[in-house]
Amino acid sequence: MRIAVYPGSFDPITNGHLDIIRRASRLYDKLIVGVLNNINKKPLFTAEERKSMIDSEIIDLPNVSCDIFSGLLVDFAKQNGATVIVKGLRTVADFEYEFQMALLNKALNPEYETMFLMTDTKYSYISSSMVKEVAKYNGELNGLVPKNVISKIKHKI
Ligand code: PNS
Repeated sequence: MRIAVYPGSFDPITNGHLDIIRRASRLYDKLIVGVLNNINKKPLFTAEERKSMIDSEIIDLPNVSCDIFSGLLVDFAKQNGATVIVKGLRTVADFEYEFQMALLNKALNPEYETMFLMTDTKYSYISSSMVKEVAKYNGELNGLVPKNVISKIKHKI
């Protein structure tokens, strides 16, 4: 059984993340979305809120689940019996950081492969931080994040 993890902060989940989740779910038997509970970051949403928003969007994907993790990604992968780490790539700017993380994860545990899915061009400019910026100034969030997330952001900001 091929199990993959798709890690991130997901603060909040965007349509770009969802596209990667949908596409990766077709490539693996099981996909676990890992929400990082990073004590060093000050997220807009708690890890539980972020997981709950993801759970609502993956209802129609039976082989996808979502879990909160802290600590090292390779340890989270091991706990879940995953052999693959899925990441999305938008721009060249993403590449440098992602390449470094992939090499580091490989050094930490050579058993895991990082697999990159290229963003669909229509999502290439979306990031959680841009979404929060747009929301702060009351900009249009339609098309950037799922409908359910729009109301959650508006409530927070
Ligand atoms: O959505 P993000 O913030 O770009 O995701 C970053 C994430 C969660 C993938 C990365 O920070 C991570 O894997 N953190 C867990 C800690 C870890 O394993 N660090 C070493 C590899 S970078």
